[in-house]
Amino acid sequence: KPLKIAVVPGDGIGIEVMPYGVRCLETVSKVFKIPIQFESFDFASCVFYQKHGDMLPPDWKETLMRFDAVYFGAVGMPDLVPDDITLWGSLLKFRREFDQYINLRPCRLMPGVPCPLAGRKAGDIDFWIVRENTEGEYSSIGGKIFEGTDRETVVQETIMTRTGVDRVLRYAFDLARSRPRKRLTSATKSNGISITMPYWDSRVNEMAKKYPDVNVDKYHIDILTAHFVQRPDIFDVVVGSNLFGDILSDLGPACTGTIGIAPSANINPDGQFPSLFEPVHGSAPDIAGKGIANPIGMIWAGQMMLHHFGYTEAADALLRAIENVLARSEVSIVTPDMGGQGSTKTLGEAVEREVMAL
Ligand code: NAI
Ligand code: MG
Repeated sequence: KPLKIAVVPGDGIGIEVMPYGVRCLETVSKVFKIPIQFESFDFASCVFYQKHGDMLPPDWKETLMRFDAVYFGAVGMPDLVPDDITLWGSLLKFRREFDQYINLRPCRLMPGVPCPLAGRKAGDIDFWIVRENTEGEYSSIGGKIFEGTDRETVVQETIMTRTGVDRVLRYAFDLARSRPRKRLTSATKSNGISITMPYWDSRVNEMAKKYPDVNVDKYHIDILTAHFVQRPDIFDVVVGSNLFGDILSDLGPACTGTIGIAPSANINPDGQFPSLFEPVHGSAPDIAGKGIANPIGMIWAGQMMLHHFGYTEAADALLRAIENVLARSEVSIVTPDMGGQGSTKTLGEAVEREVMAL
């Protein structure tokens, strides 16, 4: 059965980097004889919004349900449509309605990429961040009273359910178990947040009993951010609630170089709904249309997709191709964000050629 991929480029540089993501996936799937089918959609974009008054067509859910995964570029053109409309009208709907309760990001220092942290070289930093993606601090339960008076008060609740916490922990423990170091770090703040965070900790302790081979530790979120910068080599798999995971999953990739190369996956591990694979970056209106966006984040997101569906050999080959091209970092090939004079095309095609040369 072929892997069916819905291609949703979105806006801005999403449209520019997507073709190279698809081409690299097509090339690697040819080499490894993986049956894979792509179908492109123009929704989840500001152009679609201007035409139809909505980010998505009414039948978007049934349409995307026919696919194993969504390969997503980036959405947003803040000068045309406000960001809350674009994001809530597309990406956040996908995450919630498709119950993509895992947000997964690698934090890996690649060869040839200057590290903002002093004295680190490729291989020193290599860990995963697992963020809870559906509940926690990002609930819409709360409200405001005494508005406009001195007693004005706002409240917003954090929701943690046993099912919600356990399922993200199970995913993170399984991931840790699959890795050589088998180490899991949990982000907490039970010294300050006195109800939900001790609960999170207690579920970590419970889950740890089922994974005696995994080494578990916990850090309060404040010191954990310091360790990301000062001792990133100690981490293997880091798991956090929606808010803590959000912060860590921007900080981690930022510690390993340009935003243009970082990938991200929004996963529904049960496979009941499609998962979504995307670069970390947005639509970058400041460089859109110039053909200089770094396509590696998009290509690497495709690599995560292959890995997710169990095509390990092909995924490893594509990652090696990315690494080899970055390691060489030829000035005429790599994009300006990496100090080069190349373009989306030169860098994208270099990865594609490297796949064929492996
Ligand atoms: P951004 O990631 O689009 O850009 C931030 C900075 O990084 C810009 O200077 C940009 O030129 C640079 N950059 C980003 N990707 C790059 C690449 N591949 N190669 C070279 N340079 C790159 O974030 P920003 O400016 O905050 O948001 C722009 C728009 O994108 C907004 O509408 C925002 O809502 C949206 N956005 C969408 C996301 C998504 O679709 N998942 C994620 C983040 C932002
Ligand atoms: Mg974020």
